[in-house]
Amino acid sequence: MNLRLPVFLFLLALVPQVAPAAPPVLPGQAIFQKNCVRCHGANGRLGLNGAHDLTKSNLNAFGRTYLVTNGMGKMPAFGKMLTPAQVQQVVAYSLTLK
Ligand code: HEC
Repeated sequence: MNLRLPVFLFLLALVPQVAPAAPPVLPGQAIFQKNCVRCHGANGRLGLNGAHDLTKSNLNAFGRTYLVTNGMGKMPAFGKMLTPAQVQQVVAYSLTLK
């Protein structure tokens, strides 16, 4: 009897199943959902509590980082709740909202 085929099948069964590729999730997305969605909405357009439509914002990353860190008007300052790296991530995510 030829043993090659059973051995081959046995080895094949040892190959780990490859998980289907999940769409990449930006780290800032989770931070955004936790901290920003209640005013800005998941798509950035909600405008609750006087929040501005983020899809229409002209602020660049620098301006957004400043605003998120220090707050403005009714928007709370996140400088004490988020690390600078988290602010950077959530700002990067907010810039993807179009
Ligand atoms: C309590 C409600 C509230 C929360 C929570 C909130 N915002 Fe805001 N946001 C506002 C308000 C109100 C403004 C308008 C501020 C002003 O100009 O007086 C604003 C403005 C902004 C702007 C400027 C838009 C523009 O160009 O005018 C950005 C960017 C922004 N928010 C990002 C965020 C991010 C990122 C988070 C989460 C870390 C967040 N906001 C959480 C209420 C909120």
